[in-house]
Amino acid sequence: MQLLEEIDGFLKTFGDGMLKDRISYSLTRDRYDSIYYKKLNMKKIGRFLSAEKSNKYVYFHFENYDLKVEARGDGVFKFSWTDGPKLPVENIEFDDLQLHDNTVSVGNYSISLDENGLYLKDQDGKLIYQGYIPDFNEVLSQSLRIFGDDLFSGLGEKAGPINLRGHVYRLWNHDAKGSYGPDSDPLYLNIPVLLHLHDDVSYLIFFENAGDATVDIGFSREDKVTFYFKSKPMVYYVITGDIKSIYSKFSEITGKPYRPPYWAFGFQQSRYSYMSSAEVRSIVDRFNELGIPLSAIYLDIDYMDEFKVFTFNSDRFWDVKDLTKYLGERGVRLITIMEPNVKMEPGYTIYDEAVKNGYFIKYPDGNIFYAPVWPLMAAFPDFSRNDVREWWGKKYDFMKKNGVSGFWHDMNEPAIFVAWGDNSMALSAAQSNGSHSEVHNLFGYYMDKAAYDHLSKTERPFILSRSGWAGISRYAWIWTGDTETSWKEMKQNLLTILHMSASGISLTGCDIGGFVGSPDAELFIRWLQSAIFYPLFRVHSNKKSKRREPWEFGEKYLGIIRDIIKLRHSFLPQIYSEAISSSITGIPMIRPVYWYSSNPDMLLVDDEYLFGDSILVAPIFSEHSTSRIVKLPPGLWYNLYSDEKVFGEIKVEAPLNMIPIYIRSGSIIARDEGKLILHVFHSEEGESAKIYIDAGGEDSELDISVSKDGKINIHRGSSIKAVTIKFHGVYVKGITINGNTKYIEDNLFEIEEGVNELQLIFQ
Ligand code: GLC
Repeated sequence: MQLLEEIDGFLKTFGDGMLKDRISYSLTRDRYDSIYYKKLNMKKIGRFLSAEKSNKYVYFHFENYDLKVEARGDGVFKFSWTDGPKLPVENIEFDDLQLHDNTVSVGNYSISLDENGLYLKDQDGKLIYQGYIPDFNEVLSQSLRIFGDDLFSGLGEKAGPINLRGHVYRLWNHDAKGSYGPDSDPLYLNIPVLLHLHDDVSYLIFFENAGDATVDIGFSREDKVTFYFKSKPMVYYVITGDIKSIYSKFSEITGKPYRPPYWAFGFQQSRYSYMSSAEVRSIVDRFNELGIPLSAIYLDIDYMDEFKVFTFNSDRFWDVKDLTKYLGERGVRLITIMEPNVKMEPGYTIYDEAVKNGYFIKYPDGNIFYAPVWPLMAAFPDFSRNDVREWWGKKYDFMKKNGVSGFWHDMNEPAIFVAWGDNSMALSAAQSNGSHSEVHNLFGYYMDKAAYDHLSKTERPFILSRSGWAGISRYAWIWTGDTETSWKEMKQNLLTILHMSASGISLTGCDIGGFVGSPDAELFIRWLQSAIFYPLFRVHSNKKSKRREPWEFGEKYLGIIRDIIKLRHSFLPQIYSEAISSSITGIPMIRPVYWYSSNPDMLLVDDEYLFGDSILVAPIFSEHSTSRIVKLPPGLWYNLYSDEKVFGEIKVEAPLNMIPIYIRSGSIIARDEGKLILHVFHSEEGESAKIYIDAGGEDSELDISVSKDGKINIHRGSSIKAVTIKFHGVYVKGITINGNTKYIEDNLFEIEEGVNELQLIFQ
């Protein structure tokens, strides 16, 4: 089977004119790897000998290793068995541990040890986590106990079901070679992080490891999860608490999402490729004429001169500065694709500078690593180095000078066009932080960091990346790559995004309509609807796909498409506010229903999602369907369109122009309806919110609370003037400010600047 796939892949390469390069690279790689790539050869752990407290931490001494245990009273534990390459995680402070009879205690938790492994328990003795003693030889393996009806999610970008249990996954950033569907594995972004829910408790395990790994989640053995790592280190964290707090704590270790610019949440139109400035102008004009909001448009690889990064093709894009000015006047930004592969071409500045300064990744014998990608033979900067990142980051100034506003980092697994074997870099290629085999999964992460660190000196950057590692949202957004166009895959995207959330990634999205294929109007509309609250709201498609601009589906559907995009834009203040709050708390924005309900029935709800705490989206995922069942987490919810209050399990009608969306009672949602309106969804207990409002690149904070008896307190940053409020779910007759009563209509009123307190008069 494997061989057949290899032959098939090999034959496919005949057509692309780079067969010679592919073969020559594959041969070179195999030769180097056979000389320099060495498998691990680790000593067994041996018997447990003793426990010892040293400073704040505890050592469990084994015959051949000393396990260092560090912990925090709020449920963060770190277990270090070996050293290894230095990876980008923060050094957090740990608490002072107590040790009695081989049992460590901290806060309300204890960790004990026997021949079967380590047990983490809470103060009632409830077992949260059991990790077996790892096994070391050619691989480092660590097993965890499965208790019963457990749920697993995470591992980065996984095209698996809502519960990953019963499957085996590989953690190796990988170009899906142009198209993939459900169950395809591995994909572009992998992280050894897994959320485990069982018996009303949850924990997250995160391994500091960026090499090749496999995870067997109860596939070979029903009662065990096993991680197998081909490289060091074996260092992992176990984080427990309620789910949201787990992600806050996790983000202290891997970094919090950055603060993106407001415009990045608007509608983005892309295609492989818009071929000239004239074409881009005419598309933007059409959006304008038709009154469809457009935030950004993309240039794919054909804008470059012979696929050379940091160049423009002067025949087709000779007037980029004028183009970006033209777009800017219409409120549209230009985003360009950026490649990590640098064409091997003496005389090409980027190439020459990198050769001269030794910036490219090399084989261990000092020869530059070359491999074919779009520009044929290319070399790859060693982004793990500070000096290389600084050099690369400054190159974005050239793009900025041309008016480019955002950057799309593709092929950064890195993807390589091979004749056979793994379609990435040679395992033996040497990077500053380790051999490629040890740090492969960090290649894209460091490319994103290079751009982010430079761009963020002067602005809030927009960087969209295909690959990444733990904590990638501190530098970039992630989309799910080259998905096929199908109803199944549309739904798979939601699940993949939920696994990314479970991996701590907040800024996510997908190619709306799928990358490969041509959706009909129904599928395209349902796909747009399903993505209505995905942080990234971008249409993108392959060269051979039919055109997919909103008007391409015909007059009959144009209105529906325009309304969906307008609906998205009306929610931008809320989406932006949630993104800022995510950058403060570290909690990802898109969330599965099970975060909000301990009811076992809700655990496997795989066709709904929450945006923040307050908005629930239940998209239509089946063809020709115009109704569905919605399962709501506990509490009262408002139907967005009718204000009807609903709870529990309901059936909803959803003709093609309708996306079932529900708002949690007690929440306050910010929308742009020509002016900013705060929508208050009444609850018996009152309502409150903290909203971050974009004030020209700065954030202004607005705190508002409404008590049970209708007293409103509002505090806002100085840039926020009058605020308009709309009440839902209760009739508000009037308002009293400083003893003066005013009657209102439509539950709508304004709180003027300087007013911090008022009283509602209910019916
Ligand atoms: C890759 C990307 C895709 C892009 C294409 C051409 O397949 O994933 O989005 O359009 O390359 O650059």
